Amino acid sequence: TAEQKVSELLSKMTLEEKIGQLVQYSGFEYATGPQNTNSATVLEEIKKGKVGSMLNVAGSEETRNFQKLALQSRLKIPLLFGQDVIHGYRTTFPVNIGQAASWDLALIEKSERIAATEASAYGIHWTFAPMVDIARDPRWGRVMEGSGEDTYLGTQIGLARIRGFQGKGLGNLDAIMACAKHFAAYGAGVGGRDYNSVDMSLRQLNETYLPPFKAAAEAGVATFMNSFNDINGIPATANRYILRDLLKGQWNFKGFVVSDWGSIGEMVAHGYAKDNKEAAEKAIIAGSDMDMESRAYMAELPKLVQEGKVDPKLIDDAARRILIKKFEMGLFDDPYRFSNEKRQQQQTNNKENRKFGREFGSKSIVLLKNQGNILPLSKSVKTVALIGPFGKETTANHGFWSVAFKDDNQRIISQFDGIRNQLDKNSTLLYAKGANVDDQDRSMFAEAVETAKKADVVIMTLGEGHAMSGEAKSRSNLHFSGVQEDLLKEVAKTGKPIVLMINAGRPLVFDWAADHIPAIMYTWWLGTEAGNSIADVLFGSVNPGGKLPMTFPRTEGQIPVYYNHYNTGRPAKNNTDRNYVSAYIDLDNDPKFPFGYGLSYTSFKYSDMNLSSSNLKGNQTLDISVTVSNTGKYDGEEVVQLYIRDLVGKVVRPVKELKGFQKVFIRKGEQKTVHFKLSTQDLRFYDDALNYDWEPGEFDIMLGTDSQQVQTKRITWLK
Ligand code: IFM
Repeated sequence: TAEQKVSELLSKMTLEEKIGQLVQYSGFEYATGPQNTNSATVLEEIKKGKVGSMLNVAGSEETRNFQKLALQSRLKIPLLFGQDVIHGYRTTFPVNIGQAASWDLALIEKSERIAATEASAYGIHWTFAPMVDIARDPRWGRVMEGSGEDTYLGTQIGLARIRGFQGKGLGNLDAIMACAKHFAAYGAGVGGRDYNSVDMSLRQLNETYLPPFKAAAEAGVATFMNSFNDINGIPATANRYILRDLLKGQWNFKGFVVSDWGSIGEMVAHGYAKDNKEAAEKAIIAGSDMDMESRAYMAELPKLVQEGKVDPKLIDDAARRILIKKFEMGLFDDPYRFSNEKRQQQQTNNKENRKFGREFGSKSIVLLKNQGNILPLSKSVKTVALIGPFGKETTANHGFWSVAFKDDNQRIISQFDGIRNQLDKNSTLLYAKGANVDDQDRSMFAEAVETAKKADVVIMTLGEGHAMSGEAKSRSNLHFSGVQEDLLKEVAKTGKPIVLMINAGRPLVFDWAADHIPAIMYTWWLGTEAGNSIADVLFGSVNPGGKLPMTFPRTEGQIPVYYNHYNTGRPAKNNTDRNYVSAYIDLDNDPKFPFGYGLSYTSFKYSDMNLSSSNLKGNQTLDISVTVSNTGKYDGEEVVQLYIRDLVGKVVRPVKELKGFQKVFIRKGEQKTVHFKLSTQDLRFYDDALNYDWEPGEFDIMLGTDSQQVQTKRITWLK
């Protein structure tokens, strides 16, 4: 077994060679942290067996060259090559929050299967994904990379991604190791500021932020990554509670933990270690196995072991975990097995993958408004004007994380091209940029207005720049960047019908547009095929079915706003109740668009829901069903959502909690009955002593099309 082989190997290794396995450096491109690599030294260290893994070394040739160096080392231990494969690889897919809006686990899994197939063909063994951080604050730029605010949805999506990346299992040529990140609570940084501190009850941590990680560990994710933040005063990188007690203890995780970029060394800035040496000591003792770019382990661990401060067994354990993965990946049988020029060629600009990307893009779009059924547009509209800074963008469509993209004949479909390709030959498509993405230049307004005047329909394409969300991209102002909102107001004065497409990696604030523009589609960043996906929805060959995975606030001042809040002692009675209740005196209580919201070109009617019983006991199961009819003019998909509320608890319970969802395709004029099951397992929660159990009592069962429009039935569930 791999275990035995590793034991044999470990018995031959010096302390320094073992520590070498715990070291990861970045290659010389695509830095995602401060670049401190001295390339010549790194190459020498690889030859001496002092490096276990490289990130950002990719491509069959480059990985082969690096592997050759590793095989010059005394014990010829191959390197692991890691990279951020986040929303696609050579073919890019919607940014992750957009993917989450599809609520389509099969599509999400398939997209990661494709990403893994492409990345592995480029010599990559390991992705730093999925990011399973729950996030309730859209100011945080990394909401782009996650699945939104909900623990249940986020867990299901995280699992689908892991299945996709790891495929039929490590060792297969198209499977790469996944990495559940960032452990933990990175999405809860104060004020939505990246890398910021997190101070929260262990109850909240366990209930809201940890479940996707626990599920990932149970599902066999190969690795975990530390988060940058401190949690209740202890940096995650040296947090024994989450790493030793939970992950490697209670959850019995057998893979390894990599630090985030420099996060071991950053404990000095946190004020948790006086220098790199103390940081290395605290990190290894807490359970961080691999040092990404802090350069603390190789420099300090040998001394720490000699001084008796670090037990050599900890080094053995960390090295063992890493070496086992190298065995499982088949690298000891053939270190070059992933560096294959032919496979790489097949996975470059692969037509099938692009075809899938087009479909996935269109399924990620969320239709927010369609007053007067402006959409879908007819292909024979005589003159259409496309206005806005994103209309002719190409590379921006990739969104933030597209490290493998190089502009070598990999055609990216702009919105202009996508629309032009579908519009009738005799129709005219005009274009005006109108504004830059993020400056104060209004000189293009006049041309945009003139262009709009010539059109029968205006498509405005606005939002935030693709590099305005992602790591280190927190924003305090979530409006369209620059002067785009003013541009929209100017164009709206023409009185022309406007369809607004919003390009973003997070929920933006666009109150004015939401109130004044008749049709709005949230298009996120859709990847390589963006223009085609968008045109498919605009012209109706795809009926949009996406639903928001995050609550959209009215203003930045309403953040954090999320659907599964507690009721408080003074809940507002309605949207405008401000009379000594938990509310703002200057703002309605509801968000602009609730969690789970999204329209379709067709309409769905829900029949009364059916419960198998309203009085349950112990181990019984509750069957819930509802018939959904497509009463409109188009075939379409609907995401039926199941929420519960536990009315009274040992600790207060959320007003709603998502417990299930199903995406169903229903032809026009037809209906489908959707079934759910609940057991007491689904009623469990963490109490203030961290017991995880359910309590007998009354529960509201809610079913609906989003987190606000639900029908409710009350049940009693006793022991
Ligand atoms: O994987 C990322 C992580 O999410 C943020 N810091 C850098 C890492 C490697 O690129």
